[in-house]
Amino acid sequence: MNSLDAARIRLTIDGRSVEVDAGTTVAAALVVAGVSGARRSVSGQHRAPLCGMGVCQECRVTIDGRAHALACQTLCREGQIVRTCDGEGLP
Ligand code: FES
Repeated sequence: MNSLDAARIRLTIDGRSVEVDAGTTVAAALVVAGVSGARRSVSGQHRAPLCGMGVCQECRVTIDGRAHALACQTLCREGQIVRTCDGEGLP
């Protein structure tokens, strides 16, 4: 590996294995995984990351069993398990 090669990280999103560069946020990994929504609104609509800076709260997912984690404020880690509304990770 040379200095231009980023380290790769493998995590699981809704049961699917996803590989991303080190330093990737979970919100970006959701896009890589093709996930359409992070959570559902109280009326059942898909909600997805919007602001990317921890304000809107639309990117809440369950990360390693911790509910309501902000995907845009969390970096991917090796072996991490992420559940979205599609994976029934949130109520
Ligand atoms: S995208 Fe807005 S808080 Fe994460």
